[in-house]
Parts: sequence; C-alpha cells; structure tokens
Amino acid sequence: MLGHLTSITSARCVRDFCAALSQTKRFISFRPDESLRRFITQNTETVGEQSLTPEIKLRLFTPNCRFWREKPELWPFADPYWAIYWPGGQALSRFLLDNPGVCQGKKVLDLGSGCGASAIAAKLSGAAHVVANDIDTVAAVVTHINSELNGLEPPICVTENMIDSEPEDFDLILLGDMFYDEVLATTLHSWLDRCIKAHNTEVLIGDPGRAQLEGHDIRRHLNQRAKFELPASVREENYGLTCCSVWSYHPEL
Ligand SMILES: C[S@@+](CC[C@H](N)C(=O)[O-])C[C@H]1O[C@@H](n2cnc3c(N)ncnc32)[C@H](O)[C@@H]1O
Repeated sequence: MLGHLTSITSARCVRDFCAALSQTKRFISFRPDESLRRFITQNTETVGEQSLTPEIKLRLFTPNCRFWREKPELWPFADPYWAIYWPGGQALSRFLLDNPGVCQGKKVLDLGSGCGASAIAAKLSGAAHVVANDIDTVAAVVTHINSELNGLEPPICVTENMIDSEPEDFDLILLGDMFYDEVLATTLHSWLDRCIKAHNTEVLIGDPGRAQLEGHDIRRHLNQRAKFELPASVREENYGLTCCSVWSYHPEL
C-alpha cells in the first residue's frame, strides 16, 4: 500500500515537475556563447545620442562597422535586424520612459525584441519582470550585451517562436516595428487576440506608418497614444519616414 502510494506520489511529483518545467521552459534564460559575444562586440559600435532615447546606449551597426559595407552574403548568421534600432522600437521605448506607470510592476513581453531597446526601456521604467523574445538567437546575445551596457541585468531572453504557442499571462506586450510583413501581421493579429482573451493583456505597438499596418484589419482597432517626430539621422536611414506612433490595441472580442 505504502509502496503504491509512494509510486502514485512520485508519479504525481514527476508529472507536476514536468508540467512546471514545460510552463517555464520558454523562460529558461538564454546563455550567450562567449565567442559570439566577442564577435558581436568587434563588429558593432556603441551609439545613443542619435535616437529618440539618447539615455539608452546600444551596440548596433554603424558606417564604421565592417558589415555595414561588406557583401550581405558574408554575414554568417540570419539577417541582422537587431543591428538597427527601428523607428517603431524607438517610439515605443520613448513612450515607456516618458510614462513609467505603463510598465511599473508589470510582467512585460517585448516580442521581436531585436537589439533589446524596448525591453531595456521597460526595465528602466520599473517593470517587475521582462521577457525579450526574438527568433534570432544572435538578437538574444545582443540584448544581453546592450542590457549590461545600460547597467541592467539582462531580461529573460527567449528564442522560440512564441506566436506559435499558447499565450502566457503577460500584463503587457510590446511590439516595436513588427508590422513589416503582411503574413506576420496576420499571425500576430490572431495571436494577440488570443492573449487578450486569455489574460486581458495590454498591447502596445510602435509603428512609423508602414503600409502593412496601415492597410491591415488590426488598424481599425488601434488607438493612438503618442506620436514622435523622428530625429534627422533616423529619417535618413529609413527612406523618408518622418514620424512614428505608439498605438494601443483594443479589439472587440
Ligand atoms: C524590424 S525588427 C524590430 C526590432 C525591435 N523591436 C526594434 O523596434 O528595434 C523585427 C524583429 O522581429 C524579429 N522577429 C520576426 N519574426 C518573429 C517572431 N515570429 N517572433 C519573434 N521575433 C520575430 C526579427 O528577428 C527582428 O529582430
């Protein structure tokens, strides 16, 4: 009897352990490889002042970096979206820093985190728990480097595709410049609806008026929270984009 109970108890323990593990699996912090860190540091430059958030320093590509000029096929990893601080991420991060109440004490997900700037802004604004998610593992390394550059513990970095999976109980999801592709926009739209339905999650989107957002169904359910003029250098790098909005998403579910 005792043996039977013990085996049930241990089976239960194993089952509970596995359930807990699968719950937290995505939150196991990404550990950057030292040689990759070195490679990134050697091939990026620290910038700050030129963006909408001069208080956040970031390692990015600049004209002084080898791969700014090099043939793209020589870059040994996936396309380095993280090497640019996109206008949508800049506006979103500015908004968080100007309105710390938006993040304070909250569990925040920066989805498509790239260089990690919005996750950093969320941490600086008092978020209780920040997860940076990007399917590019190099972005996770850069987010570690950039967090440390700003004197912060890195957020939890997740490199799985979270929009393929069950929504987690985040209070706030941040999307900086994630509406640059129609298929991705539609996938995001239905996943965000699931997040809001399941957890009443708040959603903030930073976007400089890209056609893929302006022409999408989701656009009808966005309320403008802020609009920023882009600094001259950001306009030059972004083919004439002049300003960038922060939207909150309020679907009728
Ligand atoms: C245009 S960049 C924006 C980066 C950052 N949010 C910013 O504003 O600077 C888009 C980022 O989304 C990432 N991404 C694309 N599809 C994704 C997905 N399904 N889940 C998570 N990240 C994704 C890319 O790797 C890239 O880093």
